[in-house]
Amino acid sequence: MQTDLRGRDLIGDLDFSKEEVETILDVAWDLKRKRALGEPHAYLRDKTLAMLFFFSSTRTRGSFESGMAQLGGHAAFIESRTTQISHGDTEKELGEIFGRYFDGIAIRHVDMGIGNRYLNLVAEASRVPVLNMQCEIYHPHQCLADLMTIMEKKGRNLRRRKMVVSWAYASSYLKPMSVPQSLILQMPRFGMDVVLAHPPEFKLMPDIMEQAREQARKYGAGFEVTDNMEEAFKDADVVYAKSWGPLMTTQDPDEGKQIQDKYKDWITDARKMALAKEDAIYMHPLPADRDVEVTSEVMDGPNSVVFDEAENRLHAQKAVMALTMR
Ligand code: CP
Repeated sequence: MQTDLRGRDLIGDLDFSKEEVETILDVAWDLKRKRALGEPHAYLRDKTLAMLFFFSSTRTRGSFESGMAQLGGHAAFIESRTTQISHGDTEKELGEIFGRYFDGIAIRHVDMGIGNRYLNLVAEASRVPVLNMQCEIYHPHQCLADLMTIMEKKGRNLRRRKMVVSWAYASSYLKPMSVPQSLILQMPRFGMDVVLAHPPEFKLMPDIMEQAREQARKYGAGFEVTDNMEEAFKDADVVYAKSWGPLMTTQDPDEGKQIQDKYKDWITDARKMALAKEDAIYMHPLPADRDVEVTSEVMDGPNSVVFDEAENRLHAQKAVMALTMR
């Protein structure tokens, strides 16, 4: 068990080794049990977290903010537009100054080609951990909650379990690629056979794909890519189907929407779920476009674990904060 995570950043999913991720999960389950029993667990008394948002959020803000309070500390919600960032405060100022005010800096910045760089530059200038609340490449805290949820439902040994990471149609906006990218990087390390399904225009970043293949080789797990959603669902233990923008093809919102609209039949419905194993779980990080991306019948049905998954954001993030910010 690797226990010394003090001072560490979590920006990319592979920043922590598999053994370190296992430590985070152990601590997350302990914190979940303590909260269920009403046992105090103020491991971060008097500590503070800056939460800097460049993009909207429901779950991420709520779970980080509540998690810090439950750990005995305080989280400051800082919306980037209310700061002096547009008037000259650079990543260096943010890292240097917030690093002196706070014990951790959490950032959400999903702009293509900008967000991940921003986080890394703040981290370079900061004396305290920088935690990624989602950038355009990774969503590591979502992925830790996903892994925790899968283990709760399918057992800790996930070897040879089939997980489909599928694109799904949504009409609301071009969603970031960070969730599927985090999943294909992390899940092979835990032995899952990952099948990635998407229409041709929805490829993920080439270097992430290469790293995912490398993780699958290293850990003896399967990793396949298909453009057939139904084929991918066959005999799956875990169905994780969500939308993302065709951002490797175009970053123009109108052109992207035209491409997306060709694939309206990529909806997760009961017929497709029936192709997976009978006890397959349906996962989605939320928000989902109800009855567009997934039918309400599936999302509210017996195979759906979306609310347990959302809850686990709280426990997984508390574990990361307690281990890195103490
Ligand atoms: N899943 C997730 O990150 O949700 P929010 O965008 O609401 O934070």
